Amino acid sequence: MIEDKEKHLESVRRAGDYIKGLLGGRKIPEICIVLGSGLGPLAGSCEEYFSVPYSDIPGFPRSTAPGHAGKLIVGSLSGKDVFMMSGRFHYYEGYPVETVAFYVRVLGSIGVKTLFLTNAAGGIKTESVPAFVAIEDHISFFADPVLRGPNIEEFGTRFPDQSNVYDKELISLLEECAKDLGIKLSRGVYAYTKGPQYETPAEIRALSIMGADCVGMSTVPEAICASHMGLRIVGMSCVTNLAAGISKGPLSEKEVLDNAAAASEQSCALVKEFIRRL
Ligand code: HPA
Repeated sequence: MIEDKEKHLESVRRAGDYIKGLLGGRKIPEICIVLGSGLGPLAGSCEEYFSVPYSDIPGFPRSTAPGHAGKLIVGSLSGKDVFMMSGRFHYYEGYPVETVAFYVRVLGSIGVKTLFLTNAAGGIKTESVPAFVAIEDHISFFADPVLRGPNIEEFGTRFPDQSNVYDKELISLLEECAKDLGIKLSRGVYAYTKGPQYETPAEIRALSIMGADCVGMSTVPEAICASHMGLRIVGMSCVTNLAAGISKGPLSEKEVLDNAAAASEQSCALVKEFIRRL
């Protein structure tokens, strides 16, 4: 929990100033794409101006999750200037939840307007894998509340509305792109769990009854922070496995990473087309 508002604002400012310094006179990109598992190769499609390891940015933690490179890229994708978070931070890595979402406040406060969050997820209502889900809403009852503590009015209100966390127009745009590329994409509700253990079959049954379509261990802290500060958010899950109890065998990280990799050509094509039309 953030205890000292001024100290937190100062660290957001310091990280923002550091990134602005690296940009020199270059215009600050208004789009940030967060590369979840399987989306890593998208970094290769970006005409990179420069990149910086997270460990060099003041206040940024290190990314320790497998398949997460751990650097901020600034470049051009499909003709648009973008930030790319190549790797993100997860609560299960041991960071406080506000640290997980710290980058959102930093990039949002220097000028990012649209946040594209991607992740790998387990499928609850999915028939086969890999599959793609445009996140239309989320469930985060089990999460540590990222906005707990003194409210930071500079970012948003004490009790932010959550009726439209994921931008409807952007969901439609993502759907149009998928249709034109011949990629199957459904809409769905993403349930957030803290991990790192996968869910039990009973937990998946409960999430299913609650209305979840897929489940994962990321994205939601960032989406809450981003919506608090009024960013436009689009989220996409790559369903890499059937969730526990639905899957015939035990879940494994290998299955997740293999299926994310198998889907990466399509997921990268979809993100690129979306950015092109944005
Ligand atoms: N559960 C939670 N997180 C995940 C899963 C899952 O089944 N697959 C990929 N990330």
